[in-house]
Amino acid sequence: MTAPAPEATRRRAAFHALRVARVTPLTEDSVAVTFTVPPALREAYRFRAGQHLAVRRPGGNGGARRTYSICTPQTADPAELTVGVREVTGGEFSAYVNRELKAGDTLEVMTPAGRFGLREEPRGGGYWAAVVGGSGITPVLSIAATLLAGDESARFCLIRSDRTALSTMFLEEVADLKDRWPDRFHLVQTLSREQTEAGLESGRLDEERLAALLPALVPVADVAGWFLCGPYGLVQCAERALRTAGVRRGRIHEEIFHVDDGTAPPVPAATAPDRAAVTARLGGRSGSWAVRQGETLLETVLRNRADAPYACKGGVCGTCRAFLVEGEVRMDRNFALEPDELEAGYVLACQSHPVTERVELDFDR
Ligand code: FES
Repeated sequence: MTAPAPEATRRRAAFHALRVARVTPLTEDSVAVTFTVPPALREAYRFRAGQHLAVRRPGGNGGARRTYSICTPQTADPAELTVGVREVTGGEFSAYVNRELKAGDTLEVMTPAGRFGLREEPRGGGYWAAVVGGSGITPVLSIAATLLAGDESARFCLIRSDRTALSTMFLEEVADLKDRWPDRFHLVQTLSREQTEAGLESGRLDEERLAALLPALVPVADVAGWFLCGPYGLVQCAERALRTAGVRRGRIHEEIFHVDDGTAPPVPAATAPDRAAVTARLGGRSGSWAVRQGETLLETVLRNRADAPYACKGGVCGTCRAFLVEGEVRMDRNFALEPDELEAGYVLACQSHPVTERVELDFDR
């Protein structure tokens, strides 16, 4: 059985020190890090499949933090949590995790956040599918395992794109899904820099290839939910291919891992009214502060409340999501909120600049 999804109301994001139970090499440049969750914190770390954890070094209040997706299946009582960490070029934190972190060390780990993945309990039956690139497999591994284990009639098709077989994360774990549910789990592996055994699936996954591939693999119109996760370019190609095939936007769930490949739209220049002020509710307490010219609302709040939730500050992870109670804001960019969240009135504080003189945000909603 899958665990019940957390309540619709948002739990307050908080860091806790968690011990590293083990660090398992996955590829030459990636590891799986498993944290032990003590019984008293298991409720706080209950997660929905697809969510992520923000992590920082002990005593790192205000220091660098990174978000990593949980790869383990959803459970009501998580005694352990595992995330996948790939070392990125110039990434000090990911290098530290890959090269130095070991069992017995402690990291500060934020309670699970993020809206990617299973928003609600599946109603039973049906197809699910995912298109993932590189480390984008991490949350989808959790989503697929949760769906297949929780619903004996669910079917899942995973299309993954990696550079080479050696660089492919969670190979064994994905093979386990295939062994456990051979009739209900379908894997299509593509490698951009080498031939697969089948010889057919080499080369980059682009919109044209996806448009041809998807209908051959699944009844596209019947898929209950599409999970797209990986670099910006791949997610955009997959979304366009699905939209062209007539899939409603509400059935497409996206999580972008990298937006630095030159394919993202440019960030517009920010200008705020001369005297703008933000009121923010956070952890049940409210405050009002003047917004400095050019700063984001998250920066304004952080100058006054160090506990404001954030991780990437790049519009990608969604940790800083807040409800816009009053006023108007303009976001530089948004790779995290789905259209229905925008429509409901949510914004990313790390990307928001005031358009009106008064703006009110609620981080607790
Ligand atoms: S902190 Fe990641 S989207 Fe704002």
